[in-house]
Amino acid sequence: KRIVILISGRGSNMQAIVRAAREEQWPAQIVAVISNRSDAAGLEYASNNGIATEVIPSKQYTTRESFDADLREAIDRFTPDLVVLAGFMRILTPDFVAHYKGRMLNIHPSLLPDFPGLHTHQRALDAGVKEHGATVHFVTAELDHGPTVARATVPVLPGDTEDVLSARVLEQEHRLYPQAVREFIDGTYRMENGRVVFADVA
Ligand code: GRF
Repeated sequence: KRIVILISGRGSNMQAIVRAAREEQWPAQIVAVISNRSDAAGLEYASNNGIATEVIPSKQYTTRESFDADLREAIDRFTPDLVVLAGFMRILTPDFVAHYKGRMLNIHPSLLPDFPGLHTHQRALDAGVKEHGATVHFVTAELDHGPTVARATVPVLPGDTEDVLSARVLEQEHRLYPQAVREFIDGTYRMENGRVVFADVA
């Protein structure tokens, strides 16, 4: 199986997936890491680990459609079975999303459907929730709303700051996302009629 990972920055989730694939000897390969920013720190990790990297610089595009068209071309040259969004900070057009229907995952740093969008940790603190976390979901046209594959929950503790809480969630992301990607590769679940269906584990 072939996996393409899209990043925009640090790429710590991408690193966690690359590491797990290697350590657990997945029947899958991370064939490329693609970024919309040339300054994404994760690109260096990927190339140091022998993974093809590519930059499609979103800043240089005037329309979403033209950017998405070039991104899609770049991705499809690697013929992936799965596209993994890992801190990829772009809203994608419905056509792009439809093209990868059932084979594109995202991780979002909140317990969806709570706090879609940005600044999730601060918003969780402001709302005074007792539990927070991260969600892996299939990507559908509506931002941060696709069917949920897996969630990890952390407590919100007295005195938490945005930094402390985000670090607590990120640690869980690094466990949750590789596991969810692996299970997709293993055929443990799939998307069917807009829902996540788990294979029988009889
Ligand atoms: C993560 O918190 C992820 O959930 C969110 O953006 C952050 C990316 O971090 N979508 P990294 O680039 O994987 O380190």
